Amino acid sequence: MRNDDAHNHDLSISTTNDGIPSRVALATIFSEVHTERLILRRLRDDDGPAMFAVHGDLETNRYNPTGPDPDFATSEERLRLWRQNWEEYGIGYWAVTLPQTEDILGFGGVRPLIWRDRDVLNLYYRFAPSAWGNGYATELAQTAVVLSRKHLPQWPVIVRTRAENIAAIRTAERSGLLRHPALDTEHIVFTLGWTPY
Ligand SMILES: CC(C)(COP(=O)(O)OP(=O)(O)OC[C@H]1O[C@@H](n2cnc3c(N)ncnc32)[C@H](O)[C@@H]1OP(=O)(O)O)[C@@H](O)C(=O)NCCC(=O)NCCS
Repeated sequence: MRNDDAHNHDLSISTTNDGIPSRVALATIFSEVHTERLILRRLRDDDGPAMFAVHGDLETNRYNPTGPDPDFATSEERLRLWRQNWEEYGIGYWAVTLPQTEDILGFGGVRPLIWRDRDVLNLYYRFAPSAWGNGYATELAQTAVVLSRKHLPQWPVIVRTRAENIAAIRTAERSGLLRHPALDTEHIVFTLGWTPY
């Protein structure tokens, strides 16, 4: 795996009191990451059409109990919320493109949220069906996990998915997350770095 983080390895990162790198430090590392084949970049306010193309698609939401986004406004609102993570923490979900075009293949990465009263990083991936089967989700997820564990080891990484969603499960496993049945809800749960209290 190759990514832009290599340029930042030797920078000393400013941290807040609880050891979390500052928003600016995280943004420096996470805003644009180049993997072997992909560009993972911070969400922009003009990503709405691509958000709706991916999140409004029936096929990409086959295992999503709430179904696809019903309209453009719903996807725009989702984009607004996800962009807030970037504003607040300097980290959040990426848009995924290939180097030779700006066309968005999908969305994913990690975003901070509180789950079971803990700060966690939720690992996510959703790609347009035309991009499936190329290993892109694995490439994205592995990159997100490596960077998260390196720079935010305080925050466990979690994946919640449906037991029928084999592709999502395999992607979580290939990224180093382990099944954690004690945490299951209506979703099955995978974690990395989740320590007992
Ligand atoms: C889940 C998803 C992102 C995977 O994307 P992808 O780029 O096709 O995934 P990869 O090519 O990296 O494959 C990841 C693993 O899943 C497996 N896989 C992919 N599609 C599969 C399918 N339809 N059935 C079974 N396994 C599948 C791959 O073989 C690979 O496992 P392996 O390494 O053991 O061979 C994609 O299917 C998707 O966008 N689905 C809809 C959204 C979704 O359900 N997201 C998860 C929300 S929790």
